[in-house]
Amino acid sequence: MAHIVSTRPLIDGGLSGVRDEHTLTVCDPPDGSTRSVDELIALADGADVLLSVLADPITEALFEARPGLQMVSQYAVGVDNIDLEAAEAHDVAVTHTPGVLTDATADQAWALLLAAARHVPAADRYVRDGRFERWETTHLMGMELARKTIGIVGMGRIGTAVARRALGFGMEVIYHNRTRANPTVERQVSARHVGLGELLTTSDVVSLHCPHNDESHHLLDAAAFSKMKASALLVNTARGPVVDEAALVDALKSGEIAGAGLDVFEDEPEVHPGLMEQDRVVLAPHLGSATTDTRMRMAQMCVASITALLDGAESVPHRLV
Ligand code: GLV
Ligand code: GLV
Repeated sequence: MAHIVSTRPLIDGGLSGVRDEHTLTVCDPPDGSTRSVDELIALADGADVLLSVLADPITEALFEARPGLQMVSQYAVGVDNIDLEAAEAHDVAVTHTPGVLTDATADQAWALLLAAARHVPAADRYVRDGRFERWETTHLMGMELARKTIGIVGMGRIGTAVARRALGFGMEVIYHNRTRANPTVERQVSARHVGLGELLTTSDVVSLHCPHNDESHHLLDAAAFSKMKASALLVNTARGPVVDEAALVDALKSGEIAGAGLDVFEDEPEVHPGLMEQDRVVLAPHLGSATTDTRMRMAQMCVASITALLDGAESVPHRLV
């Protein structure tokens, strides 16, 4: 019998597949606040498996304090909150939930893009404020997407799903990736591989879909924004620190770029106050995977990985370490 500890409640019924022979403890942070390392160590007392979310700092200190821990099952595709090397050194398995949130996240990128392109939040406020008195010829005019170019940074599963949607909107697709996507993917979404510089100077929309790591940290900085079109929109549903947020605020203020749709932030859940002041910036609290279907599938994937590990299966699905 094993003890599974979830650091916070998941979707209703998501963990119903955990076998009766195991104990499941679902923790509920009183104010929903982000856990500190010490809090995680405390709640992992006696845990064989920790079910973690992005906000949980899974560090070496946790593995040292809880040598009984066999596994961290991350309820997300990204694992930048987990020290994978330390996990490996302490012989702790780490799994995540790739693939199932691809469409949900691509939809969210498009929701933010369309909202920024057509001023959806400002339009909504305008109507609610009772200011819709007559039809205006030049009011809240937006960017038409057909025949424009979308530049995708990171042509993985999510980037490809965003590109597929772009074809439906009649957009040209270019992309930048560390390694060129395979020819089938390029053909399927009619995408052309370009250097980052060319992507920045020619795109009307730049959408980020790369992981955050040393290489992608502040990939979009002041120099990058100065290359972009003044009419361009930035969409980030990847990770906040891929963008230098202070430089983004400067670029928006000075009109170097026109707007942004942001699902993620450099210092989440903090949001740069300069972003709040910008009318053509659409903000969301990291909702990429937030659909009922996807969150349920993510929970089921965690349960499948946990069950496989506890059963001693030869291969544990979606295992990174
Ligand atoms: C969400 O950001 C995830 O990595 O699943
Ligand atoms: C998400 O699943 C990705 O790898 O793009």
